Amino acid sequence: MNRYAHVTGWGIAVPEEILTNEKLAQIVETNDEWIVSRTGIRERRIARKDETTATLAADAACKALDRTDIDARDLDLIIVATSSPEHLFPATACLVQDNIGAVHAGAFDLSAACTGFIFGLNMAAQAIRTGSIQNALVIGSETLSRMVDWDDRTTCILFGDGAGAFVLQGSDEPGGVLSCVMRSDGSGGDLLSVPAGGSKLPTSHETVDRKQHLIQMNGREVFRFATRVMASATRETAEQAGWEVDDIDFVIPHQANQRIIESAARGLRLPLDKFVVNLERYGNTSTASIPLAMVEALDEGRIHDGANLVLVGFGAGLTWGALSMRWVEPKVRVTELDRRRRSLVTLLARFRSFLRRVQRRIEGLIWGAAARGQED
Ligand code: UT7
Repeated sequence: MNRYAHVTGWGIAVPEEILTNEKLAQIVETNDEWIVSRTGIRERRIARKDETTATLAADAACKALDRTDIDARDLDLIIVATSSPEHLFPATACLVQDNIGAVHAGAFDLSAACTGFIFGLNMAAQAIRTGSIQNALVIGSETLSRMVDWDDRTTCILFGDGAGAFVLQGSDEPGGVLSCVMRSDGSGGDLLSVPAGGSKLPTSHETVDRKQHLIQMNGREVFRFATRVMASATRETAEQAGWEVDDIDFVIPHQANQRIIESAARGLRLPLDKFVVNLERYGNTSTASIPLAMVEALDEGRIHDGANLVLVGFGAGLTWGALSMRWVEPKVRVTELDRRRRSLVTLLARFRSFLRRVQRRIEGLIWGAAARGQED
């Protein structure tokens, strides 16, 4: 019997604070007309001090789980795709795992910049389709506002904060993730990067003075690359799924620039209304942009049962990819009992995390005393 990987839960979390183009024009030399005509972006969300990549991710994850009949303890795998992880390590995914109480899940971060959510979905779907796992959580989460040079008008106008999460579950019902194209070209790594803070260029006063811990981008080159790969990757994944391009009902593209999306539509000869676009309200949220757009389209009832979807993205690396999916409306009815059980699991997760820390402390003291005893 074939196994299929279906999206059964979806959720987003966005900070409340809105930064409009007009407000940005008070920070750097720019204006609403330039930003809208060159990018399509009108506003973006900015995380509060106490909001982080992990808290936004956990919030989106809980909302996604709320639509399903499973709770965090049933998850086998958590992948957080992010370009703004909380730390080099531990992985943001482990912080989410602890926060939501996914006690049986392996958790790791995936670094493929804005293409990360597509790569993550494909990895999780593959694991489900081989039968090695049953339930996975894939999250794209960002607080890019912390990595943007707020003096650089060519980048600070683009990026925003937010998170989106999908729960994937295995089933015998045909559909769900059908195919995926994953590509990279490291020769273009310098076109979009955060040069310092890793092992090659550890953080120092000098790197901070040179702002090398912030996003640096050659916008024109990235633009050219993006317009080249969006249509070709879409075409390729559709072909692998056995579709003609015209069979695609909706394309959910990475929300970087309206002009890039329009160019992809022209390249594919598809009408623009088949493209799900919400970048005017969130800007470029990197790994979160595709789930943010898709979840809004789902919540608006725009995506119907049986729809053929292509998710397509590109980003630093360089990376690009496209994933085809037949949307199958989840049939599960979420009961009040499911909801209560899930809130209890989340509540207990915080308590459990605290107890684990205390337990580790006590064990450390006991082992330390035992080791000292042996030395004496
Ligand atoms: O997830 C992937 C992330 N990256 C991307 O998707 C970026 C892809 N690239 C782009 O979206 C576009 O290249 C940008 C939106 C970044 C820039 O648009 P552009 O049409 O390529 O502008 P440009 O860089 O060619 O600059 C045109 C002019 C320049 O002035 P001069 O040299 O012609 O006098 C810039 O200095 O616009 C100027 N400019 C601005 N003016 C007002 C650049 N940024 C701004 C600004 N406000 N914010």
